[in-house]
Formats: sequence, C-alpha cells, structure tokens
Amino acid sequence: MDEESQKIVEFMKDIEVKMGQVEGIPFPESTCEIWDQIHNFQAREDDILIATYPKAGTTWVQEIMDLILLEGDVEKSMRAPSFVKVPFIEINPKPRKSGVDNANAMESPRFLKTHLPIQLLPPSFWDKNVRVVYVARNAKDCMVSYFYFHQMNKGLPDPGTWDEYFSKFLAGDVPWGSWFDHVIGWWKAKEKHQILYIFYEDLIEDPIREYRKLLKFLRKHLSDEVLEKIRHHTSFQAMKENPMTNYSVVPAVVLDQSISPFMRKGEVGDWKNHFLVAQNIVFDEEYKKRIEGSGLSFRTQL
Ligand code: A3P
Repeated sequence: MDEESQKIVEFMKDIEVKMGQVEGIPFPESTCEIWDQIHNFQAREDDILIATYPKAGTTWVQEIMDLILLEGDVEKSMRAPSFVKVPFIEINPKPRKSGVDNANAMESPRFLKTHLPIQLLPPSFWDKNVRVVYVARNAKDCMVSYFYFHQMNKGLPDPGTWDEYFSKFLAGDVPWGSWFDHVIGWWKAKEKHQILYIFYEDLIEDPIREYRKLLKFLRKHLSDEVLEKIRHHTSFQAMKENPMTNYSVVPAVVLDQSISPFMRKGEVGDWKNHFLVAQNIVFDEEYKKRIEGSGLSFRTQL
C-alpha cells in the first residue's frame, strides 16, 4: 500500500460520518466546513463543467469528454483515474486535498465536476460564461444507484433500509438534496447559460448520436472511426475493467466495492427490481406533481 493510501486507512479508522447543510441542502460536513472556499472558487473561461445529480452517469461522461478532447487517444486517457483528471469542486475528502485545491493546481483547459444544485454553483462559473454539460438520469434508477452507493461509500451516511431510503430520497433528505429541484433547476438555467443538457437513457440508447451533441458543444470534429473507438472504450464493460475508471484505486476503507461495485449495473430500468408496487404509485404521483409543466420528461425504460 502506498503512503497516501496508508494515511487514508489511518484517517478512516476514527471517522464518523457527519452531515451539515448549506442553504437547507444536506452535504457532508467536510464540504460545509470549506463552503466559503467553494463559493469563491475561481472558474476560468475555458473550463468545461460536468454537472449532474449524484449517480446520473458523471464518470461515464467524464471519460467520453476526455476522449473527445484527446481525439480518441486511449493511452493518454489512461494517464490518471477519472477523479484526478476531473476535480470534483465541492468535495473535501480528508486527508486528501479538496476539489478546490486540486482544481486550482490544474493547468487549463480543465474539466471540472460538480453535483451542486444550480443555486449553489459558485458565481464565477456564470461570470466567466463557462460551458456546462448537464447529465440527467431518471429518478428511479438514480435512487437505486444512490442507495447502493451510500452503502459502499464510507464517506456517506448509512442509507438505512430500502424503504427508509425511498422516503428520504423522495423528500430530498439525501446528500446534495432533491433530485427534482436539481434536474428542474439546471433545465431552466439552460435558457440563460451555455448548458448542454443530455440524458443517461439517451446515451445508453444511442451513444454515437449523443457524442455528436457533445462534439458540437465542444467544437470538435472526429471521424466515425474515432467515435467508434470511444464507444468501445467507454462501454460499461470496458469501464468496469479499467482501473482508471472503476475506482479500484481508492482504498476499500473509503469505497468498499465488496458491498457494491462502483460500476454496478449500468442499465435503464433496474428500479423495477427494487420498487414495490405501492412505492411506484407514490413515486409516480410525486413525479407528476413536481415535473409537470417543467418541459422535462424522463424515460424509465427503453
Ligand atoms: P448503476 O449504479 O445504476 O450501475 P456516477 O458516475 O454519476 O456516480 O454514476 C454512476 C452510475 O453510472 C452507476 O450506475 C454506473 O454503473 C453507471 N455507469 C458508469 N459508467 C457507465 C457506462 N460506461 N455505461 C453505463 N452506465 C455507466
């Protein structure tokens, strides 16, 4: 084990996961502690921000975008793990450096990652008119994926039973807050800002069609052959086997993949294996109330 991992193992021995809040949104306490630094984060004009609600396919899109910029150079894309290549601005994973510090130390052009709801995004992103790729995934699959992630991620609180978690998720009482507010907030923001809004389900259905949207947004041109190479390298199976994308380099005291692998299923519709009939009715009613009139629509099966 390297020195950094040893430090992490030592640190995690005494850890007690605590949550705090910023403007009513739950976050790990470590994030709340450095909120001023996060709020005052200095974006740069040529940054590209990848924004998502947790478990919407962030890592997947990070890899796709990195490979687009590298024009399909797989070897270069393996230079570092996804979470090193793309700093996560509001994370403060003690004893490691914060996302803010990692981003500040990075040369431009940078890809950055955030799960922040729109109202909490550091203002400099708007001042600098930074381009944002927002990835949305249907709430039912997000909820299931997040439930497993809570269990394996020792930096997040225990989710409790599935039934308990279902209620918490629906109420927005989970880290990074309400899925509904998140997807709607970012959807509305696209009227005013440079935001490309894409869907996990569309990427599963036809990745190359979605890459073309990303290419246009990133002002890149790539041949069909390169796109096919990217598709192959970012398939679920390839990313599950790739140590740079499957989080296997993170010590098990932080992400315990024996409980649930980071690259878990990668499907649309896994919610059907978890939602009880009664839960589905409750969810659909809430979904209708919250999403109606927003102009947004999600597919929960293909
Ligand atoms: P599941 O738990 O449903 O499998 P994030 O990166 O935002 O944390 O999202 C993680 C989710 O995206 C996980 O969902 C993971 O399996 C899925 N995912 C990651 N890479 C993928 C890929 N190449 N194809 C499909 N799904 C992928």
